Amino acid sequence: MKTRKFLLPVATAGVLALTLSACGGGGGGGTTAGGGDAANGLDGRGPITYVQGKDNNSVVRPMIEKWNAAHPNEKVTFKEQTDQADQQHDDLVQHFQAKDANYDVVSVDVVWTAEFAAKGWLQPLKDKMAIDTSAMLKPTVDAATYKGTLYATPKESDGGMLYYRKDLVPTPPKTWDEMIQMCSIAKENKIGCFSGQYKQYEGLTVNAAEAINSAGGSVLDKDGKPSLNTPEAKAGLENLVKAFADGNIPKEAITYQEEEGRRAFQSGNLLFHRNWPYAYSLMSTEGSSKVKDKFGVAPLPGTDGPGASSLGGHSAAVSVYSKNKATALDFIKYIASEENQKFYAVKGSLAPVLANLYDDAALVKQLPYLPTLKTAIENAVPRPVTPFYPAVTQAIQENSYAALKGEKSVDQALSDMQKSIETAGAGS
Ligand code: GLC
Repeated sequence: MKTRKFLLPVATAGVLALTLSACGGGGGGGTTAGGGDAANGLDGRGPITYVQGKDNNSVVRPMIEKWNAAHPNEKVTFKEQTDQADQQHDDLVQHFQAKDANYDVVSVDVVWTAEFAAKGWLQPLKDKMAIDTSAMLKPTVDAATYKGTLYATPKESDGGMLYYRKDLVPTPPKTWDEMIQMCSIAKENKIGCFSGQYKQYEGLTVNAAEAINSAGGSVLDKDGKPSLNTPEAKAGLENLVKAFADGNIPKEAITYQEEEGRRAFQSGNLLFHRNWPYAYSLMSTEGSSKVKDKFGVAPLPGTDGPGASSLGGHSAAVSVYSKNKATALDFIKYIASEENQKFYAVKGSLAPVLANLYDDAALVKQLPYLPTLKTAIENAVPRPVTPFYPAVTQAIQENSYAALKGEKSVDQALSDMQKSIETAGAGS
């Protein structure tokens, strides 16, 4: 894949260079097992609670029911959060700060690992808590690791894909320019051309970074320093800004998170749509979907070939405050087991973390997008890895949102983003 050449150095440079040496936060047990909270409950068995965002694909309850039937004395209760990444994050932070022993196992977005680990909130998965990650896709394991220690088991990966209306566009576009040219087809059919997620929240960070990476730029350079002052970064953000200005991205998309965009596409109102794999099963099966047999999946478009997705996904971590960590460990192993990974893929079209499932012929037959998705994940660019991620994502979201709304020039937005990320990296 053409883009790989310039993407790889960037992908390995996802770790934000910090000018501050002490990055452990003020949380509980520190980053090492042994003292304080981290040592509690390691052998504890009994009922636990599992916390994660909205179960859009209805896979979590059946997964838990099966566990509960086999473990009557170690039952899992599901605490379902909202479907919005930022609200999920803030809910977890509040419960960790309160040292809540009832948030035993939590779903951690790949971009929260560093922050939560540095705060001492996640039980390191080593020694008697160790798990085997050798069969998992490397980017998913890296994303659950902080400073060489694993803090969670990967459970679903995520890569952005281009959903397109194959009844209207038999061959999907490979580049952004090709896609924009095809917008005339959308006009003829009186539907919107393209959308991703552009509300001001984590999804916008994902989409802005993807636009920048797909145009050959990067948020951080290979030394982990912000690198938004490049012509490539400018070209990337400009693509989105221009598409908004001329209506190729419909203006209501400024309010879209994942679900709003999915609904617009499956109601037949969009020609192209950027979303995660979870949308595939819903678009194919939901009664209200008007595009059931009419859509295909392709890599995101880039400048001269396929673009680059932001790496997404979630891992399951054990809270240091849990009193039943032995049960919690068994439960996270079960979530990551082949049996359950297959169930998540078949029922919910979620991206497996086990590499072999992408080559499973029966699975590929049912989910033809798997090879595309595997390439997307292998080439995906991690968002900056830093305990100060909330400030970094804020800088990306705020400034790209202002540019999309025409309130800041692209140059100003990128230069403000650059400065704010530098400040966030310095820990101030
Ligand atoms: C998906 C991704 C996650 C990302 C979020 C943004 O859930 O898996 O990594 O942060 O979308 O909305």
